[in-house]
Amino acid sequence: MKLQVLPLETFKPHVEDESQLSFGKQFTDRMFVMNYKTGQGWHNARIQPYQPFSLDPAAMVLHYAQEIFEGLKAFRRPDGQIALFRPMDNFRRFNFSARRMCMPEVDEAFMLQALKELVRLEVDWIPHSEGTSLYIRPALIASEPMLGVRPADEYLCYMILCPVGAYYKGGLAPVKIWISDHYVRAAHGGTGEVKTGGNYAASLYAAREAAEKGYDQVLWLDAKEKKYVEEVGSMNLCFIMDGKLVTSPLHGTILDGITRRSVLALARDMGLEIEERALSVDEIFAGAENGRITEAFGAGTAVVVSPVGQFTYQDRTVVLGDGKTTGEVTQKLYDTLIGIQCGQLPDPHGWVDLL
Ligand code: COI
Repeated sequence: MKLQVLPLETFKPHVEDESQLSFGKQFTDRMFVMNYKTGQGWHNARIQPYQPFSLDPAAMVLHYAQEIFEGLKAFRRPDGQIALFRPMDNFRRFNFSARRMCMPEVDEAFMLQALKELVRLEVDWIPHSEGTSLYIRPALIASEPMLGVRPADEYLCYMILCPVGAYYKGGLAPVKIWISDHYVRAAHGGTGEVKTGGNYAASLYAAREAAEKGYDQVLWLDAKEKKYVEEVGSMNLCFIMDGKLVTSPLHGTILDGITRRSVLALARDMGLEIEERALSVDEIFAGAENGRITEAFGAGTAVVVSPVGQFTYQDRTVVLGDGKTTGEVTQKLYDTLIGIQCGQLPDPHGWVDLL
């Protein structure tokens, strides 16, 4: 398919003070868009000025949430090169999500080519300071105007770019996690492993309750027994227990995180044994109290690696370490991952795709 590049008529001012960058609020001045229609397939692929879509109020995404998305990053390296991190993993997962949500798949190689072209055009928007990057949000929405419940016949696929600072304003600092004993995120057979907006919408009520009580994130337990760790709002969760890395297995209800995959590989490289197994709340409390669990952290594209300082479940709270200091393994994984992404460390797994 041909990729058309439409001219920009006006320019938005670039980021002036990179220390003020937050997550997900400012967007660059171009975006990638392509259309799909049953019978015609994908067409009209273009890079165009960033602008609002005109969507029919009956567009199916607005009613039945047929929507998927991805999140990945581009980094500016000290030598001026621009690096994408594992972009094909994201496009493969995009298609995995598309299949589950009865949406048309995209050509992964074409998406990567289009993304590279877009990032090249928007290169001046990639921030320079440490800890910053260009967050890339591919999305696919059902745009057909129709109120019946069935897979749509028309779609919009797009990618927007967003210069970002750290996801948490305070930088790498341990977060407080509230374990929900009532709400659940996903059950077996549902869409927990799919990157679809509905999973996030369904998490908001509990997240608001947690925030009102002073917690940063919600930890979801399994829907059946409400006993085993699943994942946290925007990240997978890992524990350092008896010197091993323990994390929930991919069994259909949690996201197969690309940062999770990267962290497991780096932990293996560091000589840590990996256990992908069910871990119960009782085990977390006992392990933190008797010193078997020394660290816990979340892993996700937006947060990278996010240390956990404490867990609260019902009326019990357990603090890891002093609750304020990032653990040694967590810090090392964070430094190694960022080092690979930003080009300060070698890339032994071939994760980096230079523009
Ligand atoms: C990411 O980490 O990229 C995500 O997609 C999480 C997002 C909801 C902020």
